[in-house]
Amino acid sequence: MKGSLKVLFIIFAALSILLPFQAKAKDVVIRKPPETLDKFYPPLSKKPEFIIQMHKMSTHFGGVFVDMGEKDWENAEKHGDQLAEEYKKTSEMVPEWKDYFNLEAAASFAKAVKTRDPKQIGKASNELGKTCGSCHAANQIAVWTRYHWPSLKSMKIIDPVSEKELEYGKYMRGLSGAFKGVTVNFGENQYDRAGKALNAFKKKYLELRSTCSKCHTDDNVKQFFVGDDIIAAMSNMKKELASAKPNIGNFWKNVGIVGKQGCKMCHLTHRAYSKIQKIWEEAK
Ligand code: HEC
Ligand code: HEC
Ligand code: HEC
Repeated sequence: MKGSLKVLFIIFAALSILLPFQAKAKDVVIRKPPETLDKFYPPLSKKPEFIIQMHKMSTHFGGVFVDMGEKDWENAEKHGDQLAEEYKKTSEMVPEWKDYFNLEAAASFAKAVKTRDPKQIGKASNELGKTCGSCHAANQIAVWTRYHWPSLKSMKIIDPVSEKELEYGKYMRGLSGAFKGVTVNFGENQYDRAGKALNAFKKKYLELRSTCSKCHTDDNVKQFFVGDDIIAAMSNMKKELASAKPNIGNFWKNVGIVGKQGCKMCHLTHRAYSKIQKIWEEAK
């Protein structure tokens, strides 16, 4: 390999180790992060100190390779030393996680930079990068769930049918029951009952629009899951129920639109993290 190509290759290799490593184990376990991490995140700390620390390490790690590409060895060496320093600091933040760190690998990396030999630097960076990757694979999703995904715990919705204030999960169970009220009655050819159930279901469903602004600032999100396509599907269901001889295929087609574009897509977007939070909560 020619010199410049080699450097490019090493930069590429270095960037790829900065990305989270893939878990090698077959099973992914999403374990609740240790409570000692709480103090590095709001509300206990003003800033997300843990992430800031990650950025520091990542900048110095990347800095070594940027400067190496420019043959600015003086700064490359500085970044190597600073990385080792920040790495050590990070290793002292969460005692339960200290085994993910390999202080020797960080020191060896800083030393390798001083050799100015791309081969040695590449090798040492791989060893160090592996330690970043194994912690990310095991803990990153858990940390997103714990500190970044907004909790539904204190969110209440007023049921427009009963006018009762319900917690989110309970509201969903009522919504699900109302949806079944429509489909079960339709399956029994009880179109009058199905029509009444549809009115209640539609009210409950559209009330969900009032919740979006609790987490989203952009009103355009309401084009998804609770948008015009869902309202049109409900209107089509209603039209069939009002006709003397409902078109059965058309009715079920529109039920499918509500179920897939509405319930399912919204669950795929919002329910995974919320489910993990709930399981941790129940385990307490
Ligand atoms: C002991 C565990 C652990 C180790 C070791 C670790 N990280 Fe992290 N890192 C995390 C966690 C957890 C997150 C997710 C933080 C969050 O999203 O709040 C993260 C996130 C990051 C991010 C993304 C920050 C963002 O804005 O979302 C970068 C970049 C990063 N780490 C770089 C590194 C580098 C480089 C190393 C090794 C030199 C490293 N990390 C070692 C746990 C670790
Ligand atoms: C408990 C908080 C919460 C509520 C309530 C909520 N969302 Fe979200 N939603 C999120 C988060 C967090 C994301 C992922 C990050 C992002 O996109 O903001 C997301 C992502 C989305 C996305 C995909 C990405 C995007 O922003 O376009 C859509 C679409 C969406 N939500 C629509 C809705 C709609 C419609 C409602 C109301 C019916 C709603 N959300 C209610 C938290 C919430
Ligand atoms: C705006 C997004 C959204 C839409 C639309 C939506 N859901 Fe949900 N659903 C959620 C979220 C978020 C949860 C998780 C609630 C929790 O964790 O407490 C949930 C939970 C549920 C649950 C489990 C409730 C429990 O705690 O036992 C059921 C059942 C359910 N939804 C049914 C439905 C049905 C049926 C529809 C469509 C007719 C639907 N949902 C439409 C977001 C949505």
